[in-house]
Amino acid sequence: MNKSTILLICFLVFYISLPVKAEEKKIQKRIVNGKIITDTKGNAINAHGGGFLKIGDYYYWIGENRKNGIFVSCYRSKDLINWEFRGDLLTRQSHQELDRANIERPKIIYNEKTKKFVMWMHYEYGRDYSYARAAVAISDNIEKPFTYLKSFRPFGNMSRDCTLYKDNDGTAYFFSSARENYDMMLYRLTDDYQDTKEQLATLWPGGHREAPALVKRGDYYFLITSGCTGWAPNQAKYAYSKSITGPWSDLINLGDETTYNSQSTYIIPLEGKKSTSYLYVGDRWDGNQYFNSTYVFLPLLFKSETGLYLNWTPELLPLVLDGELFTFNQ
Ligand code: DGJ
Repeated sequence: MNKSTILLICFLVFYISLPVKAEEKKIQKRIVNGKIITDTKGNAINAHGGGFLKIGDYYYWIGENRKNGIFVSCYRSKDLINWEFRGDLLTRQSHQELDRANIERPKIIYNEKTKKFVMWMHYEYGRDYSYARAAVAISDNIEKPFTYLKSFRPFGNMSRDCTLYKDNDGTAYFFSSARENYDMMLYRLTDDYQDTKEQLATLWPGGHREAPALVKRGDYYFLITSGCTGWAPNQAKYAYSKSITGPWSDLINLGDETTYNSQSTYIIPLEGKKSTSYLYVGDRWDGNQYFNSTYVFLPLLFKSETGLYLNWTPELLPLVLDGELFTFNQ
C-alpha cells in the first residue's frame, strides 16, 4: 500500500467517525423546565398536550406536533431526558377528515385483546373550537402511522380537553370537557377501546375544568385539572376518589396560582421495584407563538394517602438508585 492510499484511508476513517462524535455531543444531562428541549438529533421536540406509555425499557411520549401538516409525533427514551424521535403517527394525509383539522391532547393506551394501540384525541375542524369532538385512531405499532377511524361527540356531548385511563383490570376510561367546558365527563370505553360504551358521570357539574390527567395510587384515584383560561396558565386543582365514578372529593389547589406557568397534560408513574414515584408533565403554552411552547416536568409528591403536592424545581435530572432509574428524590 503506498503512502497516498494510507493517507486516503486515514482521511476516510476520520471523516466517517465525525457524525458519531456529533451524535455523542447531543446526550443531555437534564431537562430545563420551560426551555425548548431537543431530541437526540438536536431538533426541538414537538409533543405538546402529550401522553406517555411505558413499553419494556422505554418511555414513549406522543403529543401534538402541528409542523408541516403533522398532527401527532412519537418519541422514546429510557431516562426521560434523552428523547429519540421515532415517527409521525398522524398527519393531514392520514384521512380526508383531517384536511383542515386541528388535533389536540392525543393519548394512547394498548389493548391486549385486539393487540392494537388506540389513540384518543380532541378533534377540531378549522380554527375555532366549535366542533368539540373526540377522535379515535389505531395502530399495531406505537411507532408507526395510525389508521384514523372517526370523530364524534360521545353520547351527543361536546368533547374538548381529554385524557385516557386504563385501569388495572383492563377497563379503559375517557375523560373530556363538555358543555363549553363547564362539565368534565367520564365515559367507559368498549372492550376494544375504540368507542364509548357508557356515560358514567359528570364530575363537578358547572366546575369549568379542562386539561385532565389521572393517576391511581393505593386505594385512590387522583384527577388533576386546570381552570379554563385559554392558553394562559391558572391554578391547577386535584381531587381524589376511591371509585373512578365517584364520589370525588372537592377540588384542592395544587402548586402555585399558575401551576408554575403550566397546564397539566399527564402524570407518569415511575415504577421501581420497591416504590413508585410520580412525575407531573405540563405544557407551558405560548398562545402567540405555538412553537415556543415548552414543557414542565415536576415531581408529584404524596405526603399522605390523599395529600398531593407539586413543588417547583428548575430541572429534571436522572438519578439511579439501587440500579433503578428515578428522576428525582422523593
Ligand atoms: C386550553 C386547552 O387546554 C388547550 O389544549 C387548548 O385547547 C387551549 N385551551 C386553546 O385555547
